Amino acid sequence: QRPGHVSVVIVGGTGDLAKKYLWQGFFELYVNQVKGANTFSFYGGGLTPTDKGTPVLFEILKAVSCSKDVSKERCAVLKDQFLRLSQYRQLKTLEDYQNLVKNIEQELQQEGMTEAGRLFYLSVPAFAYADIADNINSSCRPTSRAWLRVVLEKPFGHDFRSAQVLASQLGNSLKDEEMYRIDHYLGKQVVAKILPFREEHKKFLDPIWNKQHIERVEILLKETLDVKGRIPFYDQYGVVRDVLQNHLTEVMTLLTMRLPLNLSSSEEILQNKLQIFSSLLPVGKNQAVVGQYQAYQTEVQQELNKTKDHVSLTPTFAAVLAYIDDVQYEGVPILLISGKMLDERVGYARILFKNDVFCLQNHNSVHCKPKQIVFHFGHGRLQYPAILVSKNLFKPVSKDSEWKEVTEHADVDVLGLPISDYYVQTPTKPREAYSELISHIFAGHKNSFISTENLLASWGLWTPLLSSLASSFPRIYPGGADNGDLLDIHVKGREISYNSEVVIINNDQMGG
Ligand code: BG6
Repeated sequence: QRPGHVSVVIVGGTGDLAKKYLWQGFFELYVNQVKGANTFSFYGGGLTPTDKGTPVLFEILKAVSCSKDVSKERCAVLKDQFLRLSQYRQLKTLEDYQNLVKNIEQELQQEGMTEAGRLFYLSVPAFAYADIADNINSSCRPTSRAWLRVVLEKPFGHDFRSAQVLASQLGNSLKDEEMYRIDHYLGKQVVAKILPFREEHKKFLDPIWNKQHIERVEILLKETLDVKGRIPFYDQYGVVRDVLQNHLTEVMTLLTMRLPLNLSSSEEILQNKLQIFSSLLPVGKNQAVVGQYQAYQTEVQQELNKTKDHVSLTPTFAAVLAYIDDVQYEGVPILLISGKMLDERVGYARILFKNDVFCLQNHNSVHCKPKQIVFHFGHGRLQYPAILVSKNLFKPVSKDSEWKEVTEHADVDVLGLPISDYYVQTPTKPREAYSELISHIFAGHKNSFISTENLLASWGLWTPLLSSLASSFPRIYPGGADNGDLLDIHVKGREISYNSEVVIINNDQMGG
């Protein structure tokens, strides 16, 4: 893309997400580009009048931080420059958007700058998207050859139908290539490494990445926090819509899709993802367990001003069993699990391989140790993001990143194996998912974003299950340190149950 001036507008620029991640991400973008050919201006926009919004924005901006390799003095200079390039604007009416653009154009003219692009980040509730997109379309499109990019945060709809309606409303104002739907899991370094890892170790993985060798796949996000303070949003969505439909589904497709010939081709990645969606068997009610932490009802009654007899069926926990109906994965259980107020915070995806195949040299040992690959997103026992390959599987060798053997705290158990039994790869420069994605938006790389087709395919998978669960009572679990029997689930054929012989997952196996 040609260099020039870039205007960044965060609508909802003083909200929680902007405060926590977005400004930091844009500051990092600015710092990384400071010596490049681009110049920037940053606008935080919101419904608050400009005089009230301005000090709030500047408090947020002052809190951004530099990476460890930047000196204190240099950091102070960079922050000062960043602050000078930023301003708050009320963005409520079409006229506000028109004035914003006048300001951008005046600045370009005064400074004699070529425009590279306009980036609008909508960090606002989804109901506001269509109107804002309409304002952007009618008044904020660059007239030159500059690009327009509009970033959207989930939720992208509530089910298949509403996602379709929202997509078509947005489609009236924006072209598909202008929309960047964020799923921050795709910005997590370990998640972004799934395809490159599969590609790099193809020689070892190809023969075993199939139903003959994979015992099961688990994709899991356990959280310890409750949803207090978020109930007006959360109660309408619940864990399936909040986490499974997007984050965990994306990870599942990356693990199971056919490897693209070209890892940077967003079209090929999308096609291969869509193929997985079309091979996924419909998920029936018996393939899901939903739960709700005990205190949730009271929280709902309080936050939604409901009486004591109001009952919410919104799940705060779900375990779902999916199957892909193709020759490669037929019959391999894929478990997607997430919940709030559980005993620990941990997120990972693991491919557990069958024992018998690999126990051959070890005839005499009754129990072979698990043979697995773990994509550890961070948190949990292992505080850092990492890819782990159990030593009894194969020894990974990379061209440009190291695989280490961990000797410190060698006995720390990670999913049934001491850490010293793994080869471990950690990102060389840890980075927040949002910062990573912001740099991709700036570069115009679309493969870490959710296209309309991908979105609808995912809702197509989840909507029938959501409808069939709509009137089911979730299992109540104590919450906090006590998960109750929630995770003692078993898989029998195509069903999840609590009383079969085969324990496929329990607390001990979960690294916690
Ligand atoms: C968000 C959900 O998308 O992802 C939250 O809305 C959830 O409910 C969060 O807590 C988890 O993300 P992370 O990065 O903290 O694992």
